[in-house]
Amino acid sequence: MSRPIARDTATDAFERRLVHMLSGALRTAEFHERDNQVAVEGVDGLYRALRERTETLGATAISTRNRHVFVDGERVRMGASDYLNLTSFIKTLDRWGVGSLTVLPGITRDELTAFIYGVARGRRDGDLATLQKRLIRDNVRSVELGAPTEEGFAEDPESLPVRTYGSCLEVMGELHTAIVGNRQIRTRRVRRVTQSVVDQMMRDEYALLALTTIKRFDDHLFSHSTNVAVLSVALGQRLGLQKSQLGELCLAAFMHDLGKIAVPKGILDKPGTLDDHEREEINQHPIHSVHILLNQGNLSQSTLRAIIGGFEHHINFDMSGYPLLSHKKGLTLFGRIITLADRFDAISTPRVYRETSFTPHQAIRHVIEHAGTQFDPELVGVFVRMIGLYPPGTVVGLSSGDVAVSIQPGQGDRSVDRPLVRIIKGNDIGVSRDLSETDDAGDYPLSIVGVYNPGNEGLFPAMDPESLRHF
Ligand SMILES: [Fe+2]
Ligand SMILES: [Fe+2]
Repeated sequence: MSRPIARDTATDAFERRLVHMLSGALRTAEFHERDNQVAVEGVDGLYRALRERTETLGATAISTRNRHVFVDGERVRMGASDYLNLTSFIKTLDRWGVGSLTVLPGITRDELTAFIYGVARGRRDGDLATLQKRLIRDNVRSVELGAPTEEGFAEDPESLPVRTYGSCLEVMGELHTAIVGNRQIRTRRVRRVTQSVVDQMMRDEYALLALTTIKRFDDHLFSHSTNVAVLSVALGQRLGLQKSQLGELCLAAFMHDLGKIAVPKGILDKPGTLDDHEREEINQHPIHSVHILLNQGNLSQSTLRAIIGGFEHHINFDMSGYPLLSHKKGLTLFGRIITLADRFDAISTPRVYRETSFTPHQAIRHVIEHAGTQFDPELVGVFVRMIGLYPPGTVVGLSSGDVAVSIQPGQGDRSVDRPLVRIIKGNDIGVSRDLSETDDAGDYPLSIVGVYNPGNEGLFPAMDPESLRHF
């Protein structure tokens, strides 16, 4: 159905919110009864949004195809941090064999509640016909369901890195659930996703690197583990590691902090300073990581390397840090890589116990200052050339007055402070500029004059254009 409206940022944002609300209401309905406060608020919000849309634009169709969500045929643009919500929504519809749902104007709140609970529950026995019968029985007349379409859908190559990143978040969520529930980890699935990081990195390292500016997620461990995996593989690739070695490195980096799941959340997220006992608890997490992986049985070479990498990631290059070792033999290459990637991501991530975090620019300066003590100086050199002094995803102010996001560092040693940027606010939005380019007189016409720290506000302009209005 075509709509006589021009699509704009506000429409995009509304549709995205609508899908999030629908997904949220379905998830809440799985665990809470209809009179639960959270469930009531979730359905209320969704009801208001659906009424607003259907009253102004008529029937609204929400459909899924090739793991994308569409509202009235327009693909809803989602960032990596939307991915878990989106995936859960798609899975729920897939289980019923539903490809689309169309909400008609005049839907009542009771119908919406019955629809949400009909879909969210009792799906084990289900197919589309069963669900349709159930909805008719429950007097749901204003939601029409459709089967999935076979129509092809051209994958947008730009969405591949986002999907790879999102799959990592999803798998880390599964690992978390398995460990908390004392169940075996599905290592094959973990390997598949870490391999896709390696494949993606070999295709385009900067596309994935720019996503490591994602720092906030429901659970910080999800995005942190993914970022450390991406940064480690990028560094390993620069060091010339073989593809199979990159796969092992990625696995080790992805799982380096699994031991944190065994540390009480109250201590992990405690605002303010920790007492000695709490500090000791946190310092145990590399040991917990070892135990968790050893308990999986079936120890392959790559799992053993992951165990060692995880164990070493808080031991510094000068062997200070923790756990304290009686021997001073030095760390493995994986350990040194993961330590660097881990620290870089950690210090540029806002946490409840730290009021401000470093911008990526400040974080890279910290890394340089601690080369030779905390970090292997050779790795630091490669790392700085790889991401530059304004790492991909850094938001910078330019001498022209525009605001831009760093895409990749300039080429050659002398250009690490003059990245390729894309303008996100100002006169030429969307235009890329190479700050290492000089004019006829040999001067730089455009320079960086400041760095924003969107992370402290929870904003990621590289990913989320909506947040631009804050600049
Ligand atoms: Fe750690
Ligand atoms: Fe970590």
